[in-house]
Formats: sequence, structure tokens, C-alpha cells
Amino acid sequence: MIHDNGSSNRSGNRSFEDVLRVRMSRRSAIARGAALSATGFLAAFAGEKLLTPDSSIVGQGSGRAIAQGRSSSLMNFAALPAANSAGVMPSISADYQFDVLIPWGTPLQPGGPTYDGNPSTRPTSAQQAQQVGIGHDGMWFFPIGSGSDRGMLAINHEYGTNSHVLGKAMPGSLEDVRLSQHAHGVAVVEIAKVNGKWQVVSSNNARRIHGNTPVTFSGPAANSPLLSTPAGNPPLGTLNNCANGKTPWGTYLTCEENFNGYFGATGAWTRTEAQARYGFSAGGFGYGWHNFDPRFDLSNPSYTHEENRFGWVVEIDPMNASQVPVKRTALGRFKHENAELVVGQGGRAVVYMGDDERFDYIYKFVSDSNWRSLIARGISPLDQGKLYVAKFNDNGTGNWIELSIDNPALKAKFANQAEILTYTRIAADTVGATPMDRPEWIAAAPNGDVYCTLTNNTQRREANAPNPLAPNPFGHIIKWRDSNNHVGTTFTWDIFVLAQNTHRIDQSAFGSPDGLWADPDGRLFIQTDGTQPVVNGVQLNDQMLVADPTTGEIRRIFAGVTGCEVTGITVTPDRRTMFVNLQHPGDGDPNLTSFPAEPGSGRIPRDATIVITKKNGGVIGS
Ligand code: FEO
Ligand code: CA
Ligand code: CA
Repeated sequence: MIHDNGSSNRSGNRSFEDVLRVRMSRRSAIARGAALSATGFLAAFAGEKLLTPDSSIVGQGSGRAIAQGRSSSLMNFAALPAANSAGVMPSISADYQFDVLIPWGTPLQPGGPTYDGNPSTRPTSAQQAQQVGIGHDGMWFFPIGSGSDRGMLAINHEYGTNSHVLGKAMPGSLEDVRLSQHAHGVAVVEIAKVNGKWQVVSSNNARRIHGNTPVTFSGPAANSPLLSTPAGNPPLGTLNNCANGKTPWGTYLTCEENFNGYFGATGAWTRTEAQARYGFSAGGFGYGWHNFDPRFDLSNPSYTHEENRFGWVVEIDPMNASQVPVKRTALGRFKHENAELVVGQGGRAVVYMGDDERFDYIYKFVSDSNWRSLIARGISPLDQGKLYVAKFNDNGTGNWIELSIDNPALKAKFANQAEILTYTRIAADTVGATPMDRPEWIAAAPNGDVYCTLTNNTQRREANAPNPLAPNPFGHIIKWRDSNNHVGTTFTWDIFVLAQNTHRIDQSAFGSPDGLWADPDGRLFIQTDGTQPVVNGVQLNDQMLVADPTTGEIRRIFAGVTGCEVTGITVTPDRRTMFVNLQHPGDGDPNLTSFPAEPGSGRIPRDATIVITKKNGGVIGS
């Protein structure tokens, strides 16, 4: 989304680009391309046919195995050509088909209030609270019964600009602010395949969780004065719900990312060190909520610390509409992208998390013991454990540094563990974590490899060996393997792919990797948000590609519409249906697209979920 890319890290920690330059210079697999300029890079492949279906572009091993055409051990579908990836409506591989589900304004229950994108009949705030929100992002399908034709879909509504939601630059009333707040948050809807078509069905468990929904805190910081306000107001709402996670005990995790942008100041306000590190400013991102809702006014002394109540991972029970969403403080407070939960050594719950800002960090949480035994004792595995931040060493190894009050460097700066968890970024700065190029999603593969998209970094100051472009507008994907089955404090790492290196091949060309999922067969699904390459004169839309990490092939399967990002990914248990999202189609401008309505209809484009199936009924990605 548009506010992903600030930079507030003044720690002086050595940036990942410096580490990467040293590391890559000694890697034979990538050194051939890395040592060359952009022009020289292409020349190095002069004996190969460029912009063909051939590919092997990931940076591992000798890395030159070539997969041809449709045949790959994991992928057997026709790539979507770049020439077909630039329209005002979505496009998909010839072997696949798609449908549209739950655009912004869909009623949570059949027969409820509907919004269809008519610019002159926008929903009221009360209606919006009964509808699917805007800014579709991370989501998860929770099956009901046998599972592949009915379930609860929990879906994030990351953001919507005032111009998109309200049809004007700034709110003019508290009602406008409430409409905006109710368009944010999370929706839980029950969906089923009826006569072959997925649709919303009536449900006892459907609900909206938005910017004013009661929430609660749990974990080490739950009772900290840093999370209470002089007004004594109860904690409300979840905001900027970016990507997600899911737990083995059946709950949904939603991650609060650019929460800082909703706050502003109506009067005199002195920014604290912590507020600066989290990017708060008097104007925010221009939502103007603080002009009508004092909760978001940083200069209102009754609401001191209200801003600390955002920036958390929030746990939601998709099968119980009366459950109060829980903000899990043990997982730290930062601009959370997603929360990839795996079960590691000893049955511990391990959660990998990225902090999406230029020069920010990668984290992991490890529960203190087996998640089943903790649940049996009535303890959440997400409340008791250790939080670590990643340090990448030049030699291909790395360390997870625990953010504990027992660390003398942290004890000198923080009063207690609750303060470390509330100001996690500052704790990570203190222990020498490695600043990264905007960590977005993290995905754990079945073989134990963990991947993270580093979407781009336009503030990269100098060219280096692995990325001949400075700034680096296209990003890359890193992978690592932790010791001791995800729970160890050391790891080895490598570069999976530099997006720049994909641009010579039509079917593989992408930039700004963001959404990421590893399926049980090892396929890696890559979704993009941001600058895409021009291929044969075509400016690509944001898209989804499938990678086979074994052969090194990457193949485009789907492209969104102009102005959108492609994000969010989940499947039915049989993996014959996949759901992905188109966020901010046309950047909300009906002059660019009216998706999902027909072009020229005058309808406001609406964020929507895309239902993908294979024409032969096969597993998605195969
Ligand atoms: Fe919400 Fe960093 O993407
Ligand atoms: Ca994202
Ligand atoms: Ca992004």
C-alpha cells in the first residue's frame, strides 16, 4: 500500500545492503550476474534466448537447471504472457479461470445493506459496519465440515483513502470519520460453493471487527501503564490490518501495519523519541480523523498512549462472533506485515514477522513450550515466549538476538519487558539488528526453509554487487534455515532471487515482491505490490507468480488490474480453490477502472477477492 515506505531508523545499525554486498561477492552462483552492471548483466547471457519461457533465475546452488515450457515437476500450466498482464480487468493463465467474490460493500449476511460502487450512494457508517470493508489484504479460509466447499473467510481491510471511501479529501464530520473507521479492520464471512459458485451465506459467526470494536490486551505488556490513557477509555479497534497468520489451534492472526498514519495533532504537540521511531506526525497520512475523534489526537492529553494500542498482532476466533479480539503483546509492537506461524522443535509455536519499513527488521517469537500443553493449561502459546530480532552476518550465517530485559544493553535503556515490547523497534536498534529492505511477508516452506520478501528500498544509497541498481526499485527475496527446527538462535541464509534478474524472461518478470505463500508441495506463490517492469513495451500490472525452488523456475499465473496490488492468499483444504485479493484497483479512480463493474460504468472500483480454479480441476499452481 502507498504508505509502506517511510524510514525512521536512525540507529546506525549496519544495513542489509552492506551485508549483502559482502556476502554476494563470494557466492559463485550469483557472482556472475552480480559483478556486472545492468548492461553487462544482459551481455553475460548473450548466448541465451532472452524473454523466452526458459528460466532459472533463483540464486541457489549452481542455479542453471532449465525448466521448459509447461513442464516442471511442480508447475504444469501455461504461463500468462506479459502482453496480457496490463488490462483494466484481471487476466489469468489459459489453464485457469477466476471469479469475483465479496467486493467492498458486500453484506455480511444475504439481504443486508449493499454498496455497489455508485459514487452518489455511499454507505452510511452504520451500513458499512454490516458490510465487507475496503483494502482487502491478508486472509485465511477456515473450513467447516468436510471443508472444501464451505468455510469462514477471515479477511483484512488494510486501508482506504478518503477520496476512495468518502469521495472527498478530508472528512467533514464525525460520521465521515466513522464511515472510514468502519471500512477498516477485519471481516469474517461464511462462504460456500452453491451450484458451483462461491458466495456469502447466512451465518451465526459472520462479523465485522473495525476501528471501534472492543478489543483486549494479553501477554507481558497487557497491564502496562504504557497501554492505558488518562481518559480511562477501553481499548478499541484494529487498524491497517495488513497481512495475516493462522494458528494450529484454529484462530486467525491479523497484523497492524501503518497505524501511525491515522493519528494527528490538532494543537501543540511535542513528539517523543518513541513516537518519532514509529513515524507519528501532526498531519498523519491525511485521514483527518483527529479533527473529529479525540482518540486519534496526539495533542489531546486525555488520550496519551492511545497510539501505543496499535501496532500489534491481533488474534481472532473465526468461529465465535462474540469473542473479543486479543492483541498479543509478547509478539512486539512494530509495523507488522504478516505472522507466519510454524510448529518447531518440541511443538513450540514459532512466529516469523517482518516490520515493513525501509531499514527495519525481521523478528521471530518462540513459545516457551509445546503449544498443545500450553493450551491444555489455559495459557495462550502467544503469551509466553521469547521475542528475537535477526542479525545477518556476512558469511551466510545469522543470529536471532533475544529482546529480553535480562540483556544488559536493554536493561540500561528500558524499565521492564513491557516497555521493550511496546517500543520493540528501539530495543532492536539497541542490540544491533540488521536493517532490511522493507520486510514484507514471510513464508515457511515444508522443507524448513523460510522466505521473506524484501519489497524494495528506494533509499538505497549506493550500487553494490548483487543489486546493480541504486536505489533498488524492484526488491528481492531472501531465505534462511534456522537451527534446531525453527527454535534455534542461529541460522544460515542465502538470496533466493533478485527481482531484477527476472526481467529478461517474459513469464518471470516481476518487481516489488510482497505477498508470499509456500504450499505443502513446496511451490512458492509470489504476489507483487509496486513498481513492475516493462516487458516488450508492456508496463505490467501487479501480479501473482509461482516458483519452483528446486528447478529455479518462476512462472506468472495471474495479473490484476491497473492501479491495484495483488495480495492475500489462502486455499481450500483440497487446494482446488484459491482466494487472492485485488487491493485498491485503479487506486480508487473510476477513470482508470470500475472493476469489478464493467469499464465505463462509472462505478467506483472496489477491492475484491478473486476465486481461482484450474480448468481441469487440479491443485492450484500445478
Ligand atoms: Fe501492507 Fe507492507 O504491506
Ligand atoms: Ca503487503
Ligand atoms: Ca507492499
